[in-house]
Amino acid sequence: MILNSKKESYEKAVSLLRLGRLVALPTETVYGLAADAKNDDAVRQIYAVKNRPPHNPLIAHIFDPKDAGMYVALNDIAKTLITAFWPGPLTLVLPKTSVNLSDVAGADLDTLAIRCPKAKWADAFLDLGYRGPIYMPSANRSGHISPTTARHVADDLGDKIDLIIDAGPCPSGIESTVLKIESDHAVLLRPGAIPVSHFVPYISDLRLPEKSERISAPGMLESHYAPNAKVRLNAKSKKAGEAFLAFGPTHIEADYNLSPSGDLNEAARKLYAALRILDRKPVIAIAPIPTKGIGSAINDRLRRAAADKGE
Ligand code: TXA
Ligand code: MG
Repeated sequence: MILNSKKESYEKAVSLLRLGRLVALPTETVYGLAADAKNDDAVRQIYAVKNRPPHNPLIAHIFDPKDAGMYVALNDIAKTLITAFWPGPLTLVLPKTSVNLSDVAGADLDTLAIRCPKAKWADAFLDLGYRGPIYMPSANRSGHISPTTARHVADDLGDKIDLIIDAGPCPSGIESTVLKIESDHAVLLRPGAIPVSHFVPYISDLRLPEKSERISAPGMLESHYAPNAKVRLNAKSKKAGEAFLAFGPTHIEADYNLSPSGDLNEAARKLYAALRILDRKPVIAIAPIPTKGIGSAINDRLRRAAADKGE
């Protein structure tokens, strides 16, 4: 069932979550598939419905930034970032302190990824007396393209979930930025909706992950966010049989243009929908996209979409 984003829908969502059922919810980044984080059976259903490998941990979503201290140990860096960016598209990986959340989502790690999304339903859930947390991965089949509309969710998972709340296309269109917080520095585990430059006033030491950390963040698996089509990057021309995904003004006959004016935020918003539309052709050729601002996250997703799926 798809319902509009309004009070009665939120009430329905909360009652389903309390019963241990799954609900798809819109966020500022992408649509998520939510389950009550304290309910083992509900969390197991997330893995089953998405066909997600059990070793890939989930992000706990809270609705009030003040709740973070109940689940993770907060140091000064974490507190500063929470004040500056929550609610918003930032996920923090921190030492886990709570034993109340389901271990099913933890991948045996001693850390927890946590975020407070900016969404109308989050405030409504608090008003209804439901504080979660919810575990919420993107609402797509594991490894497929993340959903940025309710229709995308229904196409991927529609027959397997009771409720999808439709708030229209997601304003950001790309997943949250994931930072692992250490005692005196932070590590960028996933570039995302908040560009790295925005952290400069708040963190003096922000690093790229070392090889060992790549293993601790399974989302960094090379093939991910993948369409069925083969993906050819930095394409300067369109070959026979290819779909061409353009960016900015171009003379090439484009099948889709992420932003005719060359606006990277518009491109991020439209990226996943475009990949779904063009996925009917055997090859999607994609024009070069600048790496500044959110362009860095766009290029990260495209690199993964192009990676060998090992089939
Ligand atoms: O924008 C988002 O973050 C969306 C919306 C729905 O909130 N959610 C999302 O979840 O993208 P998911 O499960 O598709 O991606 C979560 C990423 C995965 O790469 C996972 O491996 C990583 O976060 N992750 C989760 N827990 C972790 C942990 N304790 N340490 C390192 N990485 C972790
Ligand atoms: Mg995902």
